[in-house]
Amino acid sequence: MDRVLVTGAGGYIGSVLVPKLLKAGYAVRAVDRFFFGKDKLAAQPNLEILVEDSRVIDGGFFKGIDFVIDLVAISNDPSAELFSDETWAINHAGRVNCAQLARESGVKRYILPSSASIYGYQDELVDENSPTNPLTVYARANERTEHEVLAKVGGDFVVTVLRQATVYGFSPRMRFDLAVNGMTYGCWKHGKLPLMRDGKQYRPMVHIQDATDVMLRLLTFDATVINGQVFNVGSEDGNFQIEDLARRVAETAGKKTRRTIEIEWYGDPDHRSYRLSFAKIERLLKWRAQSTVERGVEEIIDALDRGEVEKTPDTITLDWYQHLTHWHKIIKEVEKYGGILDIDRKPPV
Ligand SMILES: NC(=O)c1ccc[n+]([C@@H]2O[C@H](COP(=O)([O-])OP(=O)(O)OC[C@H]3O[C@@H](n4cnc5c(N)ncnc54)[C@H](O)[C@@H]3O)[C@@H](O)[C@H]2O)c1
Repeated sequence: MDRVLVTGAGGYIGSVLVPKLLKAGYAVRAVDRFFFGKDKLAAQPNLEILVEDSRVIDGGFFKGIDFVIDLVAISNDPSAELFSDETWAINHAGRVNCAQLARESGVKRYILPSSASIYGYQDELVDENSPTNPLTVYARANERTEHEVLAKVGGDFVVTVLRQATVYGFSPRMRFDLAVNGMTYGCWKHGKLPLMRDGKQYRPMVHIQDATDVMLRLLTFDATVINGQVFNVGSEDGNFQIEDLARRVAETAGKKTRRTIEIEWYGDPDHRSYRLSFAKIERLLKWRAQSTVERGVEEIIDALDRGEVEKTPDTITLDWYQHLTHWHKIIKEVEKYGGILDIDRKPPV
């Protein structure tokens, strides 16, 4: 049985990917701090859960591992701007170290799930050979990590980089800070779709089931085709101008919830805008995205209707990291004898 080490395994993508790997017959070693809760991965026979910080892992973590999917990250622009030192340490140094340890430990394949945000602002349709234009800490850290992990290709060590479009769809660790997911929530809850100004920006979107299917495909695909390669992950019909995306989401959500949806503008104009070519992944990997925005919207509304998910602070990545750091500071100040009101020490009798 092949064994896959997944970092960031309790995250939005990880908590969909891990059950899929198990179902496909892999054993999984899931490494995460589980900032968003340990309940995101159900215990299963071939799943080993290690609560650890990716910045301190050593060679022992890679014992018996065939493949690594290095999802771990501070996973969006606003969180990375606020926690920039941590972002460089986790998203860049930690993942370069992970690739190095994987290589030294005889791991066969290492997959880096990077982000299409490294294209930043582009006028034309861009492909994997186009110059990148990272505009944020998050994007710059991804760009440097790509560069340094790709330099580790050699011998039998296969490295592949995935520049994922913005992901949407239901996950046990739900993220309502992602475009389609947040728009869908607004429609379902208030009949109002939040739309980031000025709506003219382009952004590619990919369904979470498609994004995770690609990762599984890379584990068995001909190594000579994927080694040292960078792939944009998504589809050309998933390149949306944000106001068109909003219209599609509003139409689907309006029909499903039987209400009229209003648009609610927010924020300053977004300077990131890019349309991507996905010809390379379709040609070399013989893979095409299968899902649609409509399916993503419908499944999120179904999960909301069933009460499986709500917009709690942990579904907004930046809010949750801010909450955790704020409460950590307070708890450190007031904790005594292992507790707050409930303490470990018995009063004298
Ligand atoms: N979701 C998207 O739209 C998208 C798009 C492009 C790229 N990506 C990339 O895909 C990857 C996964 O994204 P996601 O949406 O699942 O993010 P996420 O925030 O849901 O998951 C990240 C996971 O990493 C864990 N983590 C963070 N720091 C850690 C540390 N130091 N040690 C151990 N665990 C730690 C968190 O607990 C979390 O479970 C990230 O690299 C992200 O940049 C995501």
